[in-house]
Amino acid sequence: MAKRLSVKEMLEAARKGGGPGETPPPAEEASAPEEAATEPRALAPASAALEISTPQNLGRPLTLQEKMAAARGKASPVPAKPSTPAPVAALSSEAPAPKPVTAPAAPLGRPMTMAEKLAAARGGPATAAAPGAADAAKPAAAKAAASVSAKRELPPLDKITDPKDLAEALRQAGDKKIKEVAAAKAKAAAPAGKPAKEKESRPSSVLPKPTKDSALAASMPRRAFLSVTAMIWIGWGFFTLGTLQFTAMLGRFMFPNVLAEPPSTIKIGIPSNFEPEAVSERFKSEWGFWIVRSTRYNGLDSIYALQSVCTHLGCPPNWLLGEQKFKCPCHGSGFYISGVNFEGPAPRPLERFKLSVADDGQLVVDKSQKFQEELGQWSDPDSFVSA
Ligand code: FES
Repeated sequence: MAKRLSVKEMLEAARKGGGPGETPPPAEEASAPEEAATEPRALAPASAALEISTPQNLGRPLTLQEKMAAARGKASPVPAKPSTPAPVAALSSEAPAPKPVTAPAAPLGRPMTMAEKLAAARGGPATAAAPGAADAAKPAAAKAAASVSAKRELPPLDKITDPKDLAEALRQAGDKKIKEVAAAKAKAAAPAGKPAKEKESRPSSVLPKPTKDSALAASMPRRAFLSVTAMIWIGWGFFTLGTLQFTAMLGRFMFPNVLAEPPSTIKIGIPSNFEPEAVSERFKSEWGFWIVRSTRYNGLDSIYALQSVCTHLGCPPNWLLGEQKFKCPCHGSGFYISGVNFEGPAPRPLERFKLSVADDGQLVVDKSQKFQEELGQWSDPDSFVSA
């Protein structure tokens, strides 16, 4: 099977002056006689339609266009001899269909640029133009070359050897990545907008998140409620405390403490222990009376118990030994040793307690009974003991 020659090989063959038909056939072709025998039948119509120009059949050197046509394996506009070398048929056998080369409207008159050569070699429109249109043809050729290079399929990256193909592949990969990123952004933006519309159209079943002011305003009735509740509880606490205190006071009133009162009768000793015309103050502070032995009241030597309480307002008078009188410190009332009042506001004499002699011979004072002089009670035998 005939191997397709590269452009460089074809150009090299054309540069040497020989046609592509002179290129030695590859070893594979020699080793495959059966394929070679079958190919002429399939390639015969194509080789008959294509006439590749060669120096041998033209009798002159090939022009550049003819060389390019020969390199592309297309028919030359120049008439050629019917006999076409086998390599040309091999070249045209892999070409999809021979296309007529469009001849330039006018010769360039200058060597072709690389872009023009590449465009011409890839079967693009001929860039050969008139000299006046050379400048305008440059962008067009570059654009055409770019469009051709953009449309053509590139081999996988690991098989690319041409730097231009590699650059083109990288550019296409970059474009593809940009498109993918844009599509991803559009796709990401679409779901974000859709729920927003649904959220607007859907009735709100959840209360909006309260702001700081609204939360404060909402908490004010609650705070007022709590304060009122607290005041109620405090009031109930005070009421309960007062009730308990009142109950305790009532219980204390109903069940008072029993005071251990001193006994009303006191033994003060035998009568001989008391000196005549003297006042004993041993029982004043503890029992509230004096023991007096005197003859001043009725001329009888008698012993009696005088209560140490002023008959004016209840102050405790003092015995003044030098003055031989009881003197009240509150308002100055004075009483004789007999207990009869003689000065100051005291309205009446001091009072006596009951005095008797017990079985053991001791004098006994009974504070539960009193005797008043103004009432004539001092003459009662219980109000004194004769010494
Ligand atoms: Fe004793 Fe007034 S109380 S004189």
